[in-house]
Amino acid sequence: MTTNVDETTIRTVMGTVDSVRTIEGGGFAVRRPFPTEHLAMYDPFLLLDEMGPADYAPGEAVGAPDHPHRGFETVTYMLDGSFQHKDSAGNSGILKPGAVQWMTAGSGVVHSEMPSEEVMQNGGRLHGFQLWVNLPAAEKMVPPRYQEFPAEDVPVASNEAGVWVRVIAGEALGVDAVIDTHTPILYLHFILQPGASHVQRVPSEYNAFAYLVKGRGRFGIDEQEDAVEGELVAFDQDGGQVRVTNTGDEPLSFLLLGGLPINEPLARYGPFVMNTKEEIHQAIEDYHAGRMGVIDF
Ligand code: CO
Repeated sequence: MTTNVDETTIRTVMGTVDSVRTIEGGGFAVRRPFPTEHLAMYDPFLLLDEMGPADYAPGEAVGAPDHPHRGFETVTYMLDGSFQHKDSAGNSGILKPGAVQWMTAGSGVVHSEMPSEEVMQNGGRLHGFQLWVNLPAAEKMVPPRYQEFPAEDVPVASNEAGVWVRVIAGEALGVDAVIDTHTPILYLHFILQPGASHVQRVPSEYNAFAYLVKGRGRFGIDEQEDAVEGELVAFDQDGGQVRVTNTGDEPLSFLLLGGLPINEPLARYGPFVMNTKEEIHQAIEDYHAGRMGVIDF
């Protein structure tokens, strides 16, 4: 952990990583900045998927039917279309544009993430994000927890300089998030108008990156190149602020993510992320024995 960083210093850019297109769950296309062969994780974050944007004809939309998770949290944020969630803890919900679902799998949950009836029947666009947030060893087996907020309950803020932000976790433009996180996390969705600039506070002990959804942006201090759609901009841990400017001629949309690194050994196997191989074997055994429950409604 850094101890003598000036919190007013703007972070420099460590590098830019391109995302990889892949197929997830029941067959939906995602753009994935990590994990890939170039970037295994971004402690405390284990995975980030941009789902779509994909346009489906009636009856064609696909999702991720019943599957388990243990040892971390899944965070779903929708931009377009709607997903229906059900889990073995008895939770269900329909996530519409702007909604956020923060599911702590903890000791284990079986859930299904499917396009809503409306999208299944009528077709339409699906676009959203799934983020996996690791849990420290001491909290991997906490009881599952489900937090779901429709768009109108997720705080947004804007200023006269052309900056708009949805505050999913942490704080921006003087507005605090409503979602409770197990570890300190910053999760912001920014949209900057052409020419707009913003400086965002990111605690210096956090790992932090930006993921470009649309448009062009320049990050850091003396960067000579713009970041574009599908790229992850990794920040050095050398300051308490991040600066961005929209250098394109359309709105710049990006996610800014930060969190306190957990710095523990990882054992991951598909939907289970633990600290040792033995714990992975236990997770598989518990799942097959039905100890993570079933969706029975
Ligand atoms: Co899942």
